[in-house]
Amino acid sequence: MRKKIIIGNWKMNGRKVMASKLCTTIANEMQSLGNIDVALCPPFTLLEEVRQMIAGSACSLGAQDLDMHDDGAYTGQVSAGMLKDSGCEWVIIGHSERRALFGETSHSVSKKTKQALENDLKPIICVGETEDERKAGQEASVVQGQLQSVIDEIGVGSVKNITIAYEPVWAIGTGLTATPEQAQAMHSFIREQLGSRHHETAKTCRILYGGSMKESNAGNLLGCPDIDGGLIGSASLNAEEFLGICRSA
Ligand code: PGA
Repeated sequence: MRKKIIIGNWKMNGRKVMASKLCTTIANEMQSLGNIDVALCPPFTLLEEVRQMIAGSACSLGAQDLDMHDDGAYTGQVSAGMLKDSGCEWVIIGHSERRALFGETSHSVSKKTKQALENDLKPIICVGETEDERKAGQEASVVQGQLQSVIDEIGVGSVKNITIAYEPVWAIGTGLTATPEQAQAMHSFIREQLGSRHHETAKTCRILYGGSMKESNAGNLLGCPDIDGGLIGSASLNAEEFLGICRSA
């Protein structure tokens, strides 16, 4: 019922030549991937390059962050309207690297989500616990808190317009992957949380897994009933690896 989606998060990587090669390969293979959604989230500097390279294919474009304000005097920031104008359909919000390194808070994540929705962008909300939080058995309460503030801000009726990415912080860029059992347990918990507010939304909302997903482990993770896709970091910088994940979906 829920269409699988694989999203590449290039993080702060990429130059024009690399983007052009990677996107040409992916765009050429899109038709062979079957009925899944695919999106690429390059850095801001490459949005236009990637937009051109994937134009005409079923692959869509996203950004990795946005500002919570409308256009104005916010030096260095990029607004939701600018992303829309640049051809973005998606925007990642609240990635753990932004939370840990750039002071992103539940408050800013919620405001950014609202801003994205008001500008007709599809937000991908990242949630996930740190290693210490998991060791302390707090993974469920941490994720619940992260979700709660977003839902409070946008209202339960808008939850159908967001995509959630469960990304355990200890699995991001570390080579450690949550086992399919660990990931499925958290995905099912997230769906239960959504279901306690709105039954239909819980059934349709896509919940992606992120954290060292690669071709070799994608099949097992994506085979879990509540895992609807992947948010892919390092493996998205390699066309064959990324396409391998897409083929597992
Ligand atoms: P990774 O990153 O696949 O390199 O672990 C995932 C992410 O940060 O979204």
